Amino acid sequence: MKKFFWFLIVVLIGIQFISVEQSNPPVKEEMPMPPEVKNILTRACYDCHSNLTEWKWYSKIAPISFLISHDVKEGRAHLNFTEWDYYSMNEDKVRREIWEEVLNERMPPWSYRVINPKGKLTDEDKAIIRNWSLTR
Ligand code: HEC
Repeated sequence: MKKFFWFLIVVLIGIQFISVEQSNPPVKEEMPMPPEVKNILTRACYDCHSNLTEWKWYSKIAPISFLISHDVKEGRAHLNFTEWDYYSMNEDKVRREIWEEVLNERMPPWSYRVINPKGKLTDEDKAIIRNWSLTR
């Protein structure tokens, strides 16, 4: 038991030296949205879907750092609000997808909501997102 404990400590220290990608590339074009929507999305989505990620202190500690880096990489690859491309992206479609994720409570992911109070969306937040997504 004691040996296992020391083994665990050594592993936990060892993995701290594995480097992970945690950078914020420059912001390019931002997805167009009214300020009231931007307030909500900046708060609840930008950590994973933008180049303005707020890297918290615990995001530097392995193995949590691996999970967070992976989420940000995946999130940015699927949808990056700060690398908006007017030519190739369909704004209406993206807005509908956003509402669908929010409505079904898939976004922000529950693991994020548990740790980050700012990730919780109130009924009012949801109504604002819904209006923006479904009206044109
Ligand atoms: C903790 C990181 C994280 C946060 C915060 C987050 N997302 Fe995501 N999001 C992801 C990841 C990872 C994926 C891709 C994998 C998946 O669909 O689960 C994704 C996928 C999506 C997709 C699907 C895109 C596609 O091409 O299929 C939409 C839409 C989306 N997120 C919207 C949002 C919105 C809106 C918010 C805020 C209300 C948000 N996300 C917050 C990590 C995050």
